[in-house]
Amino acid sequence: MSQSEQTTQKPQHYFSVLTYGCQMNENDSEKYADQLNKLGYFLTEDFKKASIILLNTCCIRESAEKKIHGKIGELKHLKRENPNLIIGIAGCMAQKDQDALLKKYSQLDFILGTNNIYDLDKVITNLIEKKKKKILLAQDEPNKEAEETKTLSHHHLNEGKVSTFVPIMYGCNNFCTYCIVPYVRGRERSRPIAEILKETEALGEKGYKEITLLGQNVNSYGKDKKDQPDFADLLKSVDNIKTIKRVRYMTSHPRDMNSKVIDTIVESIISGNKKLCENFHIPIQSGSNYILKKMNRGYTKEYYQELVQEIRTKVPDCSITTDLIVGFPGETEELFEETLEFMKKIRFDTAYTFIYSKRSNTPAASFDNQVPLIDKKRRLKILTDIQNEISLDINKKLENKVLEVLIEGESKNNSSTYTGRTRTNKIVLFERDEKYKPGQLIDVKITAAQTWVLKGQPI
Ligand code: 5AD
Ligand code: SF4
Repeated sequence: MSQSEQTTQKPQHYFSVLTYGCQMNENDSEKYADQLNKLGYFLTEDFKKASIILLNTCCIRESAEKKIHGKIGELKHLKRENPNLIIGIAGCMAQKDQDALLKKYSQLDFILGTNNIYDLDKVITNLIEKKKKKILLAQDEPNKEAEETKTLSHHHLNEGKVSTFVPIMYGCNNFCTYCIVPYVRGRERSRPIAEILKETEALGEKGYKEITLLGQNVNSYGKDKKDQPDFADLLKSVDNIKTIKRVRYMTSHPRDMNSKVIDTIVESIISGNKKLCENFHIPIQSGSNYILKKMNRGYTKEYYQELVQEIRTKVPDCSITTDLIVGFPGETEELFEETLEFMKKIRFDTAYTFIYSKRSNTPAASFDNQVPLIDKKRRLKILTDIQNEISLDINKKLENKVLEVLIEGESKNNSSTYTGRTRTNKIVLFERDEKYKPGQLIDVKITAAQTWVLKGQPI
């Protein structure tokens, strides 16, 4: 039973939220959960028990969309069995497809766009009390006032976990030519620093030990407002919050990552606060200058390499992780080889690799020389094979080292194993011992390294 259930006598109505996509979506789901809870509904993972089912959707790649369409299809029988069940679609796909979804699926009751996140309670009230049949709410402009003033210190979906999220900004101004995010999430808006700090502190008081600051492009935090602290200033302030132990952030844009941010992380470590972690997730996307230009990324591979060099010189024990896309339009075998060479040169700790997915109405969708799927798949396999070798090789060097681990809890597949993460964001598994509790920072000696996980022993 969750804490929130204990506060009322007889919970009778339940809701389920299924989240697809990125951490921003996960955090939005907390906002939905909060509104539904305030209306008297309690969280359940059992769709059969729920009177409201919300799918919080993603549209970054076709594969995400396919999965969601499949799930909406599956929900039809639940609606048939229980006509009073309310089913809604929120998130990026809702914002993109709007009433097309309502037309396609009779089982849907409402569509809630990314600019109406705080209106879920009104939608539910309208459906139930005013007996409205179908609701589409997907305005073009964000609700800036709600975004700035509504802080969320109780997280229902992440309740009891060690780690949770705090959004610092919404939207994106970059318009990378492959990406749909700016169209479904609007322009950049930074939250006031005071709200971010208040929320982080409150979450720390609730027991969360690790906070990940979220934004589509965190390094441009504050740039949309006059006299706002920048991202490095924000990191510095968060580093001083006593109630938490670790701070991460995502996602950085290499073009906007700068020395001030790197130096702030170095200072955090030297000062002993040590909340800012030594993991730099800086999506490169391609190792070819020609493709980077066509992607509108705003940097070259030489710039990127210098950035990595600066980071590794200043923060020697850091990890560097990235995102890479294969099969962007115009990527020839030679240009793909350039990416492979670059990967080998940089040696990322981990790379999240994706097949380019054509997104309607983005510039790259109408570029010439689209790459056949068979080539994209082949390139992805080559890329991941090389990356896996590099990851394993880097991890092997950690064997016999002692690393600080934040214990997250029982491992998913094995209750006698605890899972945690290093400061560099690597997963560490070790034998469960009642001496240790989730949320604790402990030193673990690494005994065996694998591609995706490290195994260790607390010392
Ligand atoms: N196709 C494939 N991958 C994409 N990404 C963003 N848009 C697309 C797309 N159209 C990847 C990028 C980004 C990550 C979150 O998703 O690598 O960094
Ligand atoms: Fe997917 Fe991007 Fe939306 Fe996140 S912001 S849910 S990654 S489309």
